[in-house]
Amino acid sequence: MIYLSRLLTDRAMDRLHALGHPVRVGREEPPTRAELMAGLAGAGAAVVTLTERIDADLLAAAGPQLQIVANVAVGFDNVDLAAARAAGVVVTNTPGVLDRASADHAFALVLAATRRIAEGDRLIRSGQPWVWGPRMLVGLDVSAGATLGILGYGRIGAAVARRALAFDMRVLATSRSATPGRTDGAVRFVDTATLLAESDVVSVHTPLTPQTRHLIDAAALAAMRPGAYLVNTARGGVVDERALIQALRRGHLRGAALDVFEGEPAVNPDLLDAPGLVLTPHTASAGEATRDAMGILALDNVAAVLAGRPPLTPVG
Ligand code: DGY
Repeated sequence: MIYLSRLLTDRAMDRLHALGHPVRVGREEPPTRAELMAGLAGAGAAVVTLTERIDADLLAAAGPQLQIVANVAVGFDNVDLAAARAAGVVVTNTPGVLDRASADHAFALVLAATRRIAEGDRLIRSGQPWVWGPRMLVGLDVSAGATLGILGYGRIGAAVARRALAFDMRVLATSRSATPGRTDGAVRFVDTATLLAESDVVSVHTPLTPQTRHLIDAAALAAMRPGAYLVNTARGGVVDERALIQALRRGHLRGAALDVFEGEPAVNPDLLDAPGLVLTPHTASAGEATRDAMGILALDNVAAVLAGRPPLTPVG
């Protein structure tokens, strides 16, 4: 039996039913812990999303027949990989299929923050009188030689770099696998200190791990250029939100954009009136074709494992 914790897109649901296994399907909303436990009990495969925390207790409650947890996301910090390994459960994610949508959204946030799109929208909706002015809502010209720093040059970071280069930006990046000084086309790899010091906009693309939790803390924010911008579409925990709020309030940063939050789905109320901050509700991968592809890849992993074949995109 395949347990699906949340309703996926219509195309992915069609794929689920075409697999021909009995299914147990949750609702559109995230399951409660009790619902998750009941849903997993007796399942041979579980298709879950990043809102479900899969830990040792849940895996034990699922039972020894559970073969695979297929996460419908590229990030998998919601799954305890050590517990899954100990339970003999394969874990898979959905890399590759969401790179373009995620990079589009990250770059949209670069432009939204630097060109003050949300502020302009709020001004008009407020009903306040306004008139064109030479000093009104002026922001950074990214395409006039501004530097974008990509923290974490994986598939999504590289896709953001391609978009930035098309906007004539200079692009710096950090990468675990490329030493500072090397290049990938027009992208130059640097160390984190150089990236923070030289970038007008820093875009975060690292997974959340114990090593990257609060990678962007008060010290990192202080090391950024005065008047720079921060964009985070990776995971909320990579950025210390309290330190970010202070950096925005003090005016050290001119703006920021967040698609992900430390206490998600709760949002720190102080973020709501932090100056220059654009907020989106973790929608970086929310393109129609992308969400179809994420669900279908998760289900292809399930089909492979239940048929005794290796998973397509295992993690850990
Ligand atoms: C992911 O895939 O990890 C995104 O955060 C959600 O689509």
